[in-house]
Amino acid sequence: MQIFLDTANLDEIRQGVAMGVVDGVTTNPSLVAKEQCKFKDRVLEICDVVQGPVSAEVVATDYEGMLSQGREIAAWHKHVVVKIPLIPAGIAAIRTLSAEGIRTNCTLCFSLNQAWLAAKAGATYISPFVGRLDDIGNNGMALIEEIRAAYDNYGFETKLLAASLRHPEHVRQCLLAGADVGTLPFGVLKSLFSHPLTDKGLKAFLDDWEKVKDLV
Ligand code: E4P
Repeated sequence: MQIFLDTANLDEIRQGVAMGVVDGVTTNPSLVAKEQCKFKDRVLEICDVVQGPVSAEVVATDYEGMLSQGREIAAWHKHVVVKIPLIPAGIAAIRTLSAEGIRTNCTLCFSLNQAWLAAKAGATYISPFVGRLDDIGNNGMALIEEIRAAYDNYGFETKLLAASLRHPEHVRQCLLAGADVGTLPFGVLKSLFSHPLTDKGLKAFLDDWEKVKDLV
């Protein structure tokens, strides 16, 4: 499973890349607004730091508008993947952009039927939002499992990008469910490294080494 960072914060992205495990980045208009930065400038800065796909979202909601924004955003940098919402005009735009060789990430997916439409249209990635389904009392991870099974049943090549992951347990379950990518807030990425027995064990090793180091 690839790891994308779900942030528009450059410091977080630099730190994540330095950890050696980040394969790409996803952004959305809310994450960009949080940074108070110019959209294009920030996308290009991210593309310089990350050697992998960087999702940048259109804000038009009509077919022609999404096409025009999608083509423009895709031309900014070879790393850019155009993020498009899962609405009827968005699915049509994904079909057209995909035929033009432009990579797309179909976002705001909350059902298997939606994920099927995105795959039929040729989306490069489908982004089901696990945490937001949990928030309303649904089982977000069940959707990841359903999409994996259905995509495998029919041989769809659209990559399953598990989004809105809020904690390490979400990540563990995505690994077992066979998600292709998990996009993680930086805090969740950092939490994956932690285990109290690792800290305890390392401390014991270093303490014991102190007792013998002068004998070497
Ligand atoms: C995915 O691409 C979205 O940017 C993101 O995962 C949404 O997460 P949230 O529900 O925590 O805002």
